[in-house]
Amino acid sequence: MTRDNDRQMRVIILYDSRTSGGSTDKLIDMIGEQLAEAGAYVEKAKCKATADYSFVRDFDVIIMGAPVYYLVVSSQLIGALVQSNLKKCLKNKNVALFVACGSPEALALGLYLPQLKIHLIRNKILSEKIFAPHQMTDPDSVGDFVEEIEEGYKKTLRPRFGGDLEWSDEAAEMLNQMPSMFSNKIRSALTTYAKQNGIKVITLEVLDQARSSPMGF
Ligand SMILES: Cc1cc2nc3c(=O)[nH]c(=O)nc-3n(C[C@H](O)[C@H](O)[C@H](O)COP(=O)(O)O)c2cc1C
Repeated sequence: MTRDNDRQMRVIILYDSRTSGGSTDKLIDMIGEQLAEAGAYVEKAKCKATADYSFVRDFDVIIMGAPVYYLVVSSQLIGALVQSNLKKCLKNKNVALFVACGSPEALALGLYLPQLKIHLIRNKILSEKIFAPHQMTDPDSVGDFVEEIEEGYKKTLRPRFGGDLEWSDEAAEMLNQMPSMFSNKIRSALTTYAKQNGIKVITLEVLDQARSSPMGF
């Protein structure tokens, strides 16, 4: 296996705001706290349009977000996506996006979020959220965002077998906990077993069945 499911998720929050200590700063802190409580390693960095973003390569998930001023997502974040090496450094990265604004969600989804998404069409977006002013200090709203990021990230760690073969969380976790010299063999044996038996989802029960079948491992 190339990735370790047990490894702490490393998250960087790239953000911008004109207001020091404003609503975005508070939101970022709450996102960071909730992620850290869930066991993630979290850093934050305020964007500058022309900075060097090589450091984002050290992170598993890059959260990007900013408030809207006069219909435009705050300029240093957009500037970084356009002018710096940020987009290049985000290659193959999981991202999550948020926009903080006073407009209704439907408008923000259609008008503001695309200003970020247009630069990230090749990235896996784990979660995207519009934060209205009252939601920016609401633990539940922030919690929904954080939970989606965690769940989305866990899914990216699941073993992939091609085709439509899927793994339940429990079965994937069991395999991920094994040393790769065993898990690779078991994964290969299970792929064959699933194909032979028309199984689409590998669960703990399927693992048991395969173990006690003639091809047992
Ligand atoms: C000068 C100014 C312009 C704004 N323009 C917009 C806007 O065009 N659309 C919108 O939905 N919200 C707009 N807002 C609301 C902000 O996006 C929102 O209050 C945000 O939480 C501010 O973040 P901050 O406290 O980090 O600056 C504006 C706020 C300010 C102060």
